[in-house]
Order: sequence, then C-alpha cells, then structure tokens
Amino acid sequence: MLALGFLNNPRSGRTLSFGGPEMQPVATVREILLGTFDAKHVIVRGWLQNKRIGGGIIFLLLRDGSGVVQCTLRKGKVDDKTFEEFQSARIESSVELRGEVKPDPRAPGGREVQVDEGRVVHPALEEFPIAKQFHGPEFLLDKRHLFVRSDKMRSILRVRAVVLSAVREWFDEHGFTEVHVPSLTSAAVEGGATLFEVKYFDQKAYLTQSWQLYAEALIASVGSIYTIAPSFRAEKSRTRRHLTEYWHVEAEAPWCDLNCIIGVEERLLSHIVATLVEKCKTELALFERKLEDLEKVKPPFERVTYDQAFKMIGEEKSGIKWGDDLGYEQEKLLTVKFDRPFFVTHYPKKAKAFYHLPDPSNPEVTLSVDCLAPEGYGEITGGGQRIENYDALLARIREEGLDPKSYEWYLDLRKFGSVTHSGFGLGLERVVSWVCRLDHIRDAIAFPRLINRIYP
Ligand code: 4AD
Ligand code: MG
Repeated sequence: MLALGFLNNPRSGRTLSFGGPEMQPVATVREILLGTFDAKHVIVRGWLQNKRIGGGIIFLLLRDGSGVVQCTLRKGKVDDKTFEEFQSARIESSVELRGEVKPDPRAPGGREVQVDEGRVVHPALEEFPIAKQFHGPEFLLDKRHLFVRSDKMRSILRVRAVVLSAVREWFDEHGFTEVHVPSLTSAAVEGGATLFEVKYFDQKAYLTQSWQLYAEALIASVGSIYTIAPSFRAEKSRTRRHLTEYWHVEAEAPWCDLNCIIGVEERLLSHIVATLVEKCKTELALFERKLEDLEKVKPPFERVTYDQAFKMIGEEKSGIKWGDDLGYEQEKLLTVKFDRPFFVTHYPKKAKAFYHLPDPSNPEVTLSVDCLAPEGYGEITGGGQRIENYDALLARIREEGLDPKSYEWYLDLRKFGSVTHSGFGLGLERVVSWVCRLDHIRDAIAFPRLINRIYP
C-alpha cells in the first residue's frame, strides 16, 4: 500500500500528492486516451465532470483541460474512507486519482482508469448551478465563469487556439512579420459611429477599431506584416455577429494590389481550415460540422463584384439601394448561393471607409474586398487596396467630413515614398462561429462583451 504524501516528482518537477517507492508523474487525459503515456499506473488530476454510482462502483468523469476520461472506484479496492469521500463529492470538486489504465469499450474514449487511491482536493461547496437541464442564454451568460467548463466552450476555445496557431504559422512561413500597435488611439479608422471614447488624462482618446493606419506606416519599416489583437466597436445594435470587443487578425503588405491581397486571404483561410480538419476532428464533430464542408475550402475562392451580388440578391428582396453596404440580411440571401467562402469585391465608395482606393476605371466603386462565409454567416474579412496618392487621400478625408488634422501623420506617409499597398482584417470570432456552426458570436469567445453585457 502506497502512503499518501506530498512529494516533488524529480522527473516532472510537479508536486504530487501520491508517492512511494515507484513515483509516477502526472498523466494528462489526452495522453491516457491516446495511449502515449508510457506507464500503466497513472496519476490524474482534474475536475469531477460527472458521477454515477451503481453496484458498488463509482463511475467518475474526470476533466483535466486536455480531455475527459472515465475513472472507476470499486468498494474494497479503494479504502472505505476514500469510497465515502467520493460517494458524497459534488460535481466540479477538484480531485486527484491514482490508478491503472485499462481498455474498456464502454468508456468514452475506450479506456478507463481503475482507481486504487484518490482524494478530493477541494470539494465543491455547493451544487453546481449548471445542470444538464435547459438553461436560458442569459442565465448561462451570468454564469459564464462556470459555463466555460462545458464541453461546448472547451471545444470552442480549443478551435480558437488552433485557428490562431494556424494564422501565425501561415504568416510566419510567408514572410510576414508580427507587429503590435496601440489599442488607445487618437482617430477613427472605421467611422465615428462605432468609436468607444475614453478619457486619456486631459485628452480624448478612442479604443482602436483596427490597426490599419499604423500598419500602413510600418510596412515601410518591416515590409509585409500582421497582427493579432483586440479591436473595439461600440456596436449599438444587437446582432448575432457583433461583439463590442473582438479579436482581429490583420495584415498589410507593400507592393500588393487588390488581386494580391485576395490571394493572401484565400491561402490563409484555406490553411486555417486545413489545420482545423487535421487537428480538431473531435471538436468539429461535436458541432456537427462535416469535414467535407471544410475540405472544399481551397483556393481560388469564387469572386463576385458588388454589382453582381446586388443583382443576385434581387433589388426588391434586398431591402437596400445600390450603394448601400451589404448588411446581415443581404449577406444571408447571398450566402445561400455558395457552399464555401467567397469574395465580394468593388463595393461602392459610400459603403466603405475613406482610405479605400476608388477604381480608376469606375471611381464610384472601390478596390475593396470582403470574404463571406456560407450558410448565412456572411462577412468574415474586410479589406482592399489603399489610396496611394497624397492629394487623393486628402480629398477623400475632406469629402467624408473628417478633420485632416487628426490624420496628419497618416497623410505624411504619402509624402515619403508611397507605394501600392493593401491589407485586410479577419474577425477571429466570425471565423470560429462559422466553422463551429454557432448560433451567436458570443459563444466564440470566453467572456463576450456585448452591448448589454460586461459581467462577468
Ligand atoms: O470590415 P472591417 O471593419 O475592416 C477593418 O477594420 C479594416 N480596417 C481591416 C483592414 O483592412 N486592416 O473589420 C474587419 C473584420 C470584419 O470583416 C469582421 O470579420 C470583423 O472584423 N468585425 C467584427 N467581429 C466581431 N464583432 C464586430 N463588432 C466586428 N466588426 C468587424
Ligand atoms: Mg467590413
């Protein structure tokens, strides 16, 4: 019988609660289920996700962040005190177990840990408020700090992380350097309507909507660049696809026109999706996302102009006039005609921000591009080619009624070696919502910020 003790395991460097002659390092559930842990006896630590008692056996589902594994405690095999302790332990207590890994076709994942020693580290003090029964969305948002433990949220958070690692991998391999810019800014990028104003000592400042203006300065320093950072939008309408704080993947490249940036976007998106297919099969299955849907996502993506899109939706059905931006409703009508992401290009000048380059062959439209995801999800990226010429940029700033003083440094960039350049922004939560088939963007982030929610 091994003594319960607190030993520092020399191999793992982790503090263990079980020790004795043969000390074992802690295994992760993932290692146990994949069979990559090279010992039959393991120590596992985590939270009690579920518990069932029957026929002198306690069946536990233990979650440790890497997965969920079944662990069984048999009366007589563990001592009576331990059996009783686990018999009364509530769901979401933290526990530590030691036992032998055995194949069991009935257990989720095909393996179980047959426990010979265990302890409740911190018993849950109350019944866990989130039960199996239906809870309304507001209740679950109030309990978000606990709901993040659900299979759904855990899977989404893993998908998010894999998307971001794929983003970094692709950019790093294709000559883009990661750069960071301030979140506190002095001017609007995407129009004043969604600006968050903050007091900056005795000045007015804003939370950034996009890194773009700074990015256009930095391309003359480091060349092709990207960032991953939060952006803020004071979105006053409640929709299924707007957060007030979201994670923005943005890129900017010198010597790159509209066509070039579209190529970057479609290759990046294809790499993201291929990486998910490779690394997130379990998570995608939980959301009933078919791998075939994602395997179709390969360059080149289909392209339609705003004009064509407007005709495809049908003027009466669209509810907008030519020149208006495509909103959620219009994009929904359009996306049913596609089964994979596609591009809409050449948006009218009045639908886009001041910096978009008007098309030299038709200045009423711009060299702009949005990528739309199918199945009603709509816009996941926005970008295009920027105005290069000093006078043209100044004229557009004036035309939009913006104060050229606020954009003095930005205009300066056109005085010192301006070049053809383009960029785009991708909304991380928009992409996650689409691949995970979420009903609402709030579930694509751990702690969503929405018009009516800043707690917890
Ligand atoms: O289309 P947007 O406004 O474009 C820009 O900000 C450009 N300055 C980006 C650039 O060229 N560097 O935003 C880009 C993307 C959108 O396509 C959408 O995916 C996401 O950011 N996005 C939001 N995501 C969640 N909540 C919101 N409120 C969002 N607003 C934009
Ligand atoms: Mg946009």
